[in-house]
Amino acid sequence: MKSKLLAFVCLTAAMVLLPAVVSVAFPSGEPVDNPKKGILIASFGSSMPEGEAAINAVADAVKAAYPGVETRVSYTSRIIMRKLAREQNRTVDEPAVALAKMAYEGFTDVVVLSTHIIPGEEYDDLASVVDGFREIGASAPKAGFRFIGLSSPLLSSARDFERLAGVITDTYAEQAKGGAVIFVGHGTHHFADAAYSALQMALWRRSPNFFVGTIEGLPSYDDVLARLKASKVKNIWLAPAMLVAGDHAHNDLAGDEPDSWKSTLGQAGYKVTPVLSGLGQNKAVQNLLLDKLREAWDGAKQ
Ligand code: CO
Repeated sequence: MKSKLLAFVCLTAAMVLLPAVVSVAFPSGEPVDNPKKGILIASFGSSMPEGEAAINAVADAVKAAYPGVETRVSYTSRIIMRKLAREQNRTVDEPAVALAKMAYEGFTDVVVLSTHIIPGEEYDDLASVVDGFREIGASAPKAGFRFIGLSSPLLSSARDFERLAGVITDTYAEQAKGGAVIFVGHGTHHFADAAYSALQMALWRRSPNFFVGTIEGLPSYDDVLARLKASKVKNIWLAPAMLVAGDHAHNDLAGDEPDSWKSTLGQAGYKVTPVLSGLGQNKAVQNLLLDKLREAWDGAKQ
């Protein structure tokens, strides 16, 4: 339902903008004299400055890698966007609106960089928006883009699990010597939740001291606790396997409430050190995202 709604919104937005676009876009069937390239970062979003820091870090890395290409940021979470409007009087566009504006402004080649960790519901919705714009570009070239690409999420192929596991074990090599590092992802009812278990296997192939848990999916908190008990570790580092260290990281993981992971693991006898830094702040993860972005550009006409 939601993805259909989003596709409808993006089609409607493009139709509304159509008359204005005609004057600035390229003539049908002719090569583009002045290609205008753009990058749209699509992130779940965050309403916390600490969370936004990770999104900005990714945006800065993209801008540094593509200095001549305009880079914009959009959020996919309606809840976050409403919260920002209500509490901070700020507007961040959702991808459909951001893309409609870019079409209006005459961008010809656009790649959407997904910063989602797994190909779950949020990514499916984003893909349907991109498909909508691709359809517009194919059937009404004056109203759409000549090329639109979408990068795959961080964990979407067998190679991805190995690469992210390598980055994680390198980043926390010191901590893993004296204890366990637990990476906690969001988790979902979507089938793509299986990606977290696949990441766990990729980590265990490298070291027994890395664990993956999720807040809303599998492996669960209980799964992680059972495996911790089976190991001999007492010191634990608790890090978000999310792009940002936002609300979930600060409250569900590291909060002082009695039901946070930090509190319950503390009660279970572990010494817990939260790591309040999102994957987006990790340079090596930024490079993985830049690789995904490069792959997404490969389909573009030069
Ligand atoms: Co959530």
